[in-house]
Amino acid sequence: MERLQKAIANSGYTSRRKAEELIVKGRVKVNNEIVTELGTKVKNSDSIEIDGVKLNKEEKEYYLLYKPRGVISSTDDEKGRKTVIDLIDTESRIYPVGRLDYDTTGLLLLTNDGDFANMLMHPSNEIDKVYYAKVEGILKGEHIKQLERGVLVDGVKTSKAKVKLKKVDKKQKNSYVELTIHEGKNHQVKKMFEAIGFNVLKLSRERVAFLTLDGLTSGEYRPLKPKEIKQIYALVNK
Ligand code: URA
Repeated sequence: MERLQKAIANSGYTSRRKAEELIVKGRVKVNNEIVTELGTKVKNSDSIEIDGVKLNKEEKEYYLLYKPRGVISSTDDEKGRKTVIDLIDTESRIYPVGRLDYDTTGLLLLTNDGDFANMLMHPSNEIDKVYYAKVEGILKGEHIKQLERGVLVDGVKTSKAKVKLKKVDKKQKNSYVELTIHEGKNHQVKKMFEAIGFNVLKLSRERVAFLTLDGLTSGEYRPLKPKEIKQIYALVNK
């Protein structure tokens, strides 16, 4: 069961706020009866009509994209820049699950399933997000420990992270670090390094839960398999 305005928004017909307006104005029928009560719960099998036209329930779609650099992670951009949605061939109103920065590459999931997106993003579900960062300067053990324990980002301490120093390039004075976190605050990885005095030169997301970029090159995408979607739910319900 879900709230009527949510069912309308999830169908891709309009936003939740506009759906509420339609309901209040008496333009929505459930099983042939006008419903003006905003909290009304509906089941998947209920028939919803707006202005006499039956609502088509949009099929849920799930994609795994290898995001290239120079593309923004939102559904539209006021500056007209290319978005991740432009890379995916679908008529459905999909959106990215969280964000990768304009200059960050790697694994981005997109869907029109709001519950699935929220589940993946909620830190309490402890879904691994694994990043590979090229950092300016040489990291020492103490820096790794600080990142692992948590650092202050926008005044809030980050949760425990797994951090592996993969490579140090002494000549170029760069370090390569693998970082596993469950949170997804804005610019989180860059800000975590900033908090310990380092600048991220390149950032890529390599994995989300057990999903990787295997088989894809930058700019390519694939639908998630039903089995993968089930496995993600199973991870959270464990
Ligand atoms: N952390 C960042 O700083 N940027 C990203 O794009 C993702 C995580």
